[in-house]
Amino acid sequence: MARVFCIANQKGGVGKTTTAISLADAIAKSGAKTLLIDLDPQCNATSGLGFQPTNSHPLVAETAFSGSLIATSTPTLQLLPGSRNFADIEALTQNDTLKSMRIHQQLLDEMNAYDYVLIDSPPSLGHLTQIALAASTEVFMPIQCEFFAMEGLVRMIEIIKKIMEQKTDKLKFGGIVLTMYDISLELTHEVDREVRNFFGEIVFKTVIPRDVAISEAPSHGLSIIDYAPKSRGTRAYIELCMEVLERG
Ligand SMILES: Nc1ncnc2c1ncn2[C@@H]1O[C@H](COP(=O)(O)OP(=O)(O)OP(=O)(O)O)[C@@H](O)[C@H]1O
Ligand SMILES: [Mg+2]
Repeated sequence: MARVFCIANQKGGVGKTTTAISLADAIAKSGAKTLLIDLDPQCNATSGLGFQPTNSHPLVAETAFSGSLIATSTPTLQLLPGSRNFADIEALTQNDTLKSMRIHQQLLDEMNAYDYVLIDSPPSLGHLTQIALAASTEVFMPIQCEFFAMEGLVRMIEIIKKIMEQKTDKLKFGGIVLTMYDISLELTHEVDREVRNFFGEIVFKTVIPRDVAISEAPSHGLSIIDYAPKSRGTRAYIELCMEVLERG
């Protein structure tokens, strides 16, 4: 069965999409068959890899993913692109149990062709994030090293726990990764201490440094590994990838 990671945090701009793209590419480059699903209507994971969002959302189309999949420059990494189609997003976010079950089943069926699936989710705890969580085996939470880092996390954890209880198959906390880490800032160290005290072992040893190359990569449509292979950002995401694979 595929390991399915939902990259989630209801806070915006904490590094979800960057982590989804970079980790997916690092895992794929290790040789594993990997799928990146863009479930965020902002479609940053799609454009960040240099592709266009689709006109209609693959999950609403009720057809097999295969027609929508995009091959990336890493042969073992495929992308299921996102869509900004307003009607489709509406359809996906409606609280329609039957539709949710159909999408859930389709995700489960199609994801099994992969070793790893990463789902990039929007900055909310709404229906789209819940679809992503319900289809996942592990939740990954990037936390930005800033003052409000922990705010709202309790609500997020409540939602995750609720889904864990509802799900018959397992969903576990895959891990927490500290992003935009700046060792020269006292605040970074404070957040680091606070997060590790609160969450303990599930916080990855690897931290992702603030690195300008990471913020430049998506404008070139490349993952950080392809854009700046020798950068600190690349090193950090490869290290994170190794930690993730070891935890499996
Ligand atoms: N380690 C880093 N160093 C420098 N810039 C970074 C780093 N990680 C992310 N960024 C930049 O910070 C911004 C927000 O990152 P990203 O889009 O990954 O966050 P997000 O959580 O997906 O946002 P949203 O909630 O809007 O989906 C982007 O411009 C990204 O390029
Ligand atoms: Mg994002």
